[in-house]
Amino acid sequence: MEKTLVLLKPCTLQRALVGEIITRFERRGLRIAGIKMMQLTDEILDEHYGHLKGKSFFQILKDSMMSTPIIALCIEGIEAVQTVRLMAGATNGRYANPGTIRGDYCVSNQQNIVHASDSLESAEVEIKRFFKPEEIFDYTPSNLAYMYALDEL
Ligand code: TYD
Repeated sequence: MEKTLVLLKPCTLQRALVGEIITRFERRGLRIAGIKMMQLTDEILDEHYGHLKGKSFFQILKDSMMSTPIIALCIEGIEAVQTVRLMAGATNGRYANPGTIRGDYCVSNQQNIVHASDSLESAEVEIKRFFKPEEIFDYTPSNLAYMYALDEL
């Protein structure tokens, strides 16, 4: 099983969409392996958005990500990284397909509801960035045999 990192951004908390977004992951059949509320700092955002350093929106993005606490989720499933990216939709909510989280809940390039790891490699780094090992839980969902076929498990 893969684990991936999702952040519910300040816009999601301010718009009281936390429950709805988490419900989408649960209904899809993904397992919540970790969940916590955090106040992000400049330091963690410099790392997390390091690939965007130098972009005109970098500071605005960081300020926005620090404007309220966020909710960090570690989500698990077979090919969870790609499943969650597909659920998130295109970065810019205006171009995200209806049916995706961004396509259903936002119209912004930045106030776009969620962050989702873009590869297995970044998921591994990002989960460690936001969670201590003891904050990730490995329980077995009782409905697992009905979420996946035996030859997928
Ligand atoms: P990026 O890693 O390119 O996208 P994604 O979140 O889909 O993996 O960008 C990270 C965040 O930076 C994105 O969620 C919102 C913000 N952003 C802007 O504010 N303006 C932009 O033009 C882009 C590309 C991103």
